[in-house]
Amino acid sequence: MSVTPLAPDLDAALRRLRLRAMRQLAPELLLTSKTQRWSPEEFLRTLLEAEITSRDASNATQRLKLAGFPVTKTLEEFDVAASSIPGATFSYLASLEWISAQENLCLIGPAGTGKSHLLVALGHEAVASNYKVRYFSAPTLIETLYRGLADNSVGKVIDQVLRADLILIDEIGFAPMDDTGAQLFFRLIAAAYEHRALGIGTHWPFEEWGRFLPEHNTAVSLLDRLVHHGIIVVTSGESFRMKEARTRGAQFSSKKK
Ligand SMILES: Nc1ncnc2c1ncn2[C@@H]1O[C@H](COP(=O)(O)OP(=O)(O)OP(=O)(O)O)[C@@H](O)[C@H]1O
Ligand SMILES: [Mg+2]
Repeated sequence: MSVTPLAPDLDAALRRLRLRAMRQLAPELLLTSKTQRWSPEEFLRTLLEAEITSRDASNATQRLKLAGFPVTKTLEEFDVAASSIPGATFSYLASLEWISAQENLCLIGPAGTGKSHLLVALGHEAVASNYKVRYFSAPTLIETLYRGLADNSVGKVIDQVLRADLILIDEIGFAPMDDTGAQLFFRLIAAAYEHRALGIGTHWPFEEWGRFLPEHNTAVSLLDRLVHHGIIVVTSGESFRMKEARTRGAQFSSKKK
């Protein structure tokens, strides 16, 4: 027996219902089920499982695209022992329980100490665990909100961002915010408060947020919302980038000898 194409009405029905994996697999599976004398239930189960697997995979790909990660980083690549983050804190973060509990992760520390790596890696893990995630650098986020201001759609832009279960905002305070930028940023944080999990990365301890936020009251209200239900993680130590550069330098000079 050989594989015969699906009857046109079945093919059309599966196409109309957008059951692509089932439509592609059905001809071969019909033959297998006949030659191997499968029960009708077994046939149906195999067909449905193929559709579900294919949908899950394409949803994950779509979620990953939507997240907008600037790089690919994983939790496996994160060397916990080499970082200043306690093992228990890392395990809790990796469990992703804080996302469903709508807690906020605040990573604070100097350059090269793994803040972005950890944020992006947790984001990847969350996408793989069926969460919707959005990643922004603070300037990009403010720019996006500013564009909404220009065409009167800030509310809509914020609603769209809040469709994510986890919103990651990195590089807060790398550049100063103007009055409008700070107000827009506050609007987003206030809208996310107790509804969504946030993950932020910054160089600046909270008491220094006045350096890049122009208005004291906004800074206080913003921090109040971030810190309530917050997991504050301070990263410290020498920059990984510096360490790597030194290792490369040492290899280079030992090659020259
Ligand atoms: N604990 C770690 N294990 C493995 N790699 C690390 C670790 N910490 C940092 N790195 C690597 O070092 C580089 C710098 O880290 P990262 O970009 O996360 O720093 P950062 O704290 O965000 O710095 P900045 O404040 O300048 O943005 C990256 O390539 C990252 O993958
Ligand atoms: Mg960074």
